Amino acid sequence: MATLRVALAVAAPRCRVLAQRGLWTQSRQQLAAAAAANGVARPSRRGLTTVSQAAAAAVTTLSRDEVITGHPSNNVTDAIYSKIGVNLHLQPTHPIGIIKQAIYDYFDKQHPDTFKKFDNLAPIVSAHANFDEVLVPADHVSRSPNDTYYVDPDTVLRCHTSAHQAELLRGGHSAFLCTGDVYRRDSIDATHYPVFHQMEGVRVFSAADWAGQEPTAYAETELKRTLEGLAQHLFGKVEMRWIDAYFPFTEPSFELEIFFKGEWLEVLGCGVMQQQILDKNLEAGHKAWAFGLGLERLAMVLFDIPDIRLFWTADQRFLKQFRAGDLSARFKSYSKFPPCYKDVAFWVSDAFTENNLCEVVRGIAGDLAEEVKLIDTFTHPKTGRTSNCYRIAYRSMDRSLTDDEINALQEEVRSTIASKLGVELR
Ligand code: DAH
Repeated sequence: MATLRVALAVAAPRCRVLAQRGLWTQSRQQLAAAAAANGVARPSRRGLTTVSQAAAAAVTTLSRDEVITGHPSNNVTDAIYSKIGVNLHLQPTHPIGIIKQAIYDYFDKQHPDTFKKFDNLAPIVSAHANFDEVLVPADHVSRSPNDTYYVDPDTVLRCHTSAHQAELLRGGHSAFLCTGDVYRRDSIDATHYPVFHQMEGVRVFSAADWAGQEPTAYAETELKRTLEGLAQHLFGKVEMRWIDAYFPFTEPSFELEIFFKGEWLEVLGCGVMQQQILDKNLEAGHKAWAFGLGLERLAMVLFDIPDIRLFWTADQRFLKQFRAGDLSARFKSYSKFPPCYKDVAFWVSDAFTENNLCEVVRGIAGDLAEEVKLIDTFTHPKTGRTSNCYRIAYRSMDRSLTDDEINALQEEVRSTIASKLGVELR
């Protein structure tokens, strides 16, 4: 993903501002306040198999050892472990919880008693559910440990709420909204964070619904009407457009963009569910639409929140600006501490990835890391070796940082990347 993100940033700066994580779009191009450190929400082993068990089990706890297993393929860090069970989407006065509720309200108003809500399914799921059951190809980049957190080879931190589609269909739910925290290894900037929140929506139809119309066309029309209504509910009268897209789980697939403050912003991905997913999990004779949206993205646009790290702050100056049920709040910056930039240059090895670099930086600097940006790269004409120079921006949202503090962080970053990433510092 690192290469793709860099390429996107160069080719289309706008995409970077609120870019969808490039997880599925890679294929499209081919086609065209921390949880308690020692106890977090978890599913039981049994809970991994059915929704009711998983939901019931979500309140039990999982020790650090069970998440950071020591298995050679485990790539979950303490920084990530500390986010499991925080559940910002369950806090009614937090911007993420407010957006979730606003979407619920829309669906309840449009279709009373129709959509069942799931917002406590545990984020640890089988790789099978996360990928296979939604038809993610065996060689798809999203399966790489460079992009996804693995607990062990068969178990992941879900990288999208689509991981629950199949189990909820099997559970007999024909219309549902499923919200939760999702985890992705990624780069560091104002709109990317390794944990964020998604909502998945699915609605299943049968012959009585499409009543003689072509079923796919019917589902597509229904889907677009529903989501245009949702965008209007959240953003008021805005201009919208549909963009053809690619997702493994839908055909056809679309992205909805809205024109907001002078820019086209992508707000969600959706489509008509692949028939194979329905046929595997339901009896024959159904059609469905599905969508997935990122709650941080919507909240950042709607509430004018400039940096994704703010969602995780415990600072009351942030939290007290929002009220349950109020979509009209606009974030007012309470402090502007200057960023401090530090560069690090090194000769890369074949194994080097930007996501690994970012994981190291986050592990050391936590939310003080604001951005990690490739500012220079060159290949030595004689040796053929490639050198990258990254600029790390350090900044706290809440306080000023001292030089000593930043220098200590940077020194630790330097020595850790030299020892852990197999690169040679310059
Ligand atoms: N799972 C996708 C993602 O994480 C979002 C998505 C797109 C979900 C299309 C859907 C869908 O259900 O139909 O980016």
